[in-house]
Amino acid sequence: MLNNNVITLFDNGEHKFIFLGSERKSIESIPTNQYLIIHKEEGVLLDPGGVHVFPRVLASVVEFIDLGKIKHIFYTHQDPDVSSGITLWDTVVDAKFYISKLWERFLPHFGVFKNDKIVPIEDKGGKIKFKDGEELIIIPAHFLHSTGNLILYDPLSKILFSGDIGVSVFPKNQEKIYVENFNEHIKYIEEFHKRYMSSNIACKKLASIIKKYDIDQMVPQHGAIYKKQQFNEFLKWFENIKCGIDLIDSIYGNEK
Ligand SMILES: [Fe+2]
Ligand SMILES: [Fe+2]
Repeated sequence: MLNNNVITLFDNGEHKFIFLGSERKSIESIPTNQYLIIHKEEGVLLDPGGVHVFPRVLASVVEFIDLGKIKHIFYTHQDPDVSSGITLWDTVVDAKFYISKLWERFLPHFGVFKNDKIVPIEDKGGKIKFKDGEELIIIPAHFLHSTGNLILYDPLSKILFSGDIGVSVFPKNQEKIYVENFNEHIKYIEEFHKRYMSSNIACKKLASIIKKYDIDQMVPQHGAIYKKQQFNEFLKWFENIKCGIDLIDSIYGNEK
């Protein structure tokens, strides 16, 4: 079982990308991964998660950085496992919250906070800028799976935070931190992608965009992390899968 297995994925002295761990709370829930980027004195949290993981994530974060230095919180999409802890985070940090403009108006349903703390991201993507001019690139990944869905590329660490793209669902007690053999790994990702991703059109579109980036690691919001070779194998698989409405007849159970 994975529990609080914090790993520094990149560190050049001034810039760190940290996996804050994962935890399976019960047989029913799918464990979530959280990540922290620290650039000089500025912290960025990526999909810090729902209410029930808040105490663990908070405890992991303060091992690395003062809460006052967390200035940006990025959400890939509106799902509760991604963003339902927003009001808790808002009480402990003074940060901006980045999410697709499509979900800005829905976030207040997780609780009460000031809308001026939200940075709504346009459909074409955007950036998170650090004080020294370095930046993180917000890449659109719409319909994968959310209608307004974003992922994030860190040019300094060459890590792509992919949200629900590349997610693996392991049987209990068979969780892995890294994807080892991609062909063996397909059985852990196939069902999720077939049902939660919207169509091959969306997969191909994203694949054509992210091929332009130099990616050393891909880190998803659930399951194992991909190193460069496994990421390249994933991308080939991903741009060719049939999913979502491509499979509409079998999803409805009336396959011809
Ligand atoms: Fe999701
Ligand atoms: Fe998720």
